[in-house]
Amino acid sequence: RPRVFSGIQPTAGSFHLGNYLGALRNWITMQDTHDAFYCVVDLHSITVAMDPEELRNNTRYAAAQLLAMGIDPERSTLFVQSHVAEHAQLSWVLECMTGFGEAGRMTQFKDKSSRQEEEHVSVGLFTYPALMAADILLYRTDAVPVGEDQRQHLELSRTLAQRFNSRFGSIFVVPDAHIPQDTAKIFDLQAPGSKMSKSVPSGVVEFMEDPKRSAKKIRSAVTDNEREIRYDPDDKPGISNLLVIYSAMTGRSIAELESDYEGHGYGDLKKNLGEVIVDFVTPFQTRVQEYLDDPVELDKILRRGAERARTTASETLRTVFDRVGFLPPA
Ligand code: TYM
Repeated sequence: RPRVFSGIQPTAGSFHLGNYLGALRNWITMQDTHDAFYCVVDLHSITVAMDPEELRNNTRYAAAQLLAMGIDPERSTLFVQSHVAEHAQLSWVLECMTGFGEAGRMTQFKDKSSRQEEEHVSVGLFTYPALMAADILLYRTDAVPVGEDQRQHLELSRTLAQRFNSRFGSIFVVPDAHIPQDTAKIFDLQAPGSKMSKSVPSGVVEFMEDPKRSAKKIRSAVTDNEREIRYDPDDKPGISNLLVIYSAMTGRSIAELESDYEGHGYGDLKKNLGEVIVDFVTPFQTRVQEYLDDPVELDKILRRGAERARTTASETLRTVFDRVGFLPPA
């Protein structure tokens, strides 16, 4: 079976519609076809200042959401990144193989660092993509389901795998990004030119917020001055985004939706999509709460996941250290 690896940051607290449609939906389906490793990447979350108690809570919260969404810990290895020390260890080796300029060209780094005062931009934020490459390469991963915003990081992971292989002999599998065609980038409801993210609270549908609030955000989504419900991302980015979301959440094609809504106003589309979202998140929230109510079981799942992950990760790391020329520990 080919192997899949992906990760999500716990920083966010609640997952959002962009996470789900861009990546998590594929995490779930790929459990049927792949040997799956899914990781809550808490090491990545401290690249920006984090409150310790909040991080701990968010990490459990993230794991509970993944389980509630359908990640099956019997079939998949679900674990927390900091529980498997090999991630940080391999990251160091890969950092030493990454060019300074190469890392500086990462657009996510440029975006995030330009939004902060220079002294608040950590070195960790800069080396973040090498850690991400370590996550992926440790498991000799074939496929990495992510949204469009991670494409460049995936490209760097491939480059680092190839670079290591050609310098030290083939160890790493060169991973393929698995980015959905239609939902690679879900846009902000209030600013349909930028990606949906937690930084704009009014434009993001969060799965753990009051579902009524989500429905309201959809009803207030920015559209255009026309009346026609038509997919046209250039001229009608707001409506197109809603159609993409609607289609992905229901399995109805965009063409079908366009014809069903002929003669209807934007209000109808928004109201119905709001209902679709409410129907999806309401039972989801109940399941999340069930996992959170049993923290002992939750921690047990994560401990078992980490043990399984370590088996593979330690084997890869041992080979890497040997090839690099580190003396084996006595
Ligand atoms: P993160 O935690 O920011 O996001 C998790 C996943 O959600 C996707 N995503 C979106 N997709 C479509 N539209 C959006 N508006 C949207 N917003 C977020 C992201 O592309 C991502 O797939 N660096 C990663 C975490 C990571 C990782 C890894 C991923 C660490 N190590 C190894 C894959 C493999 C991140 O911060 O994702």
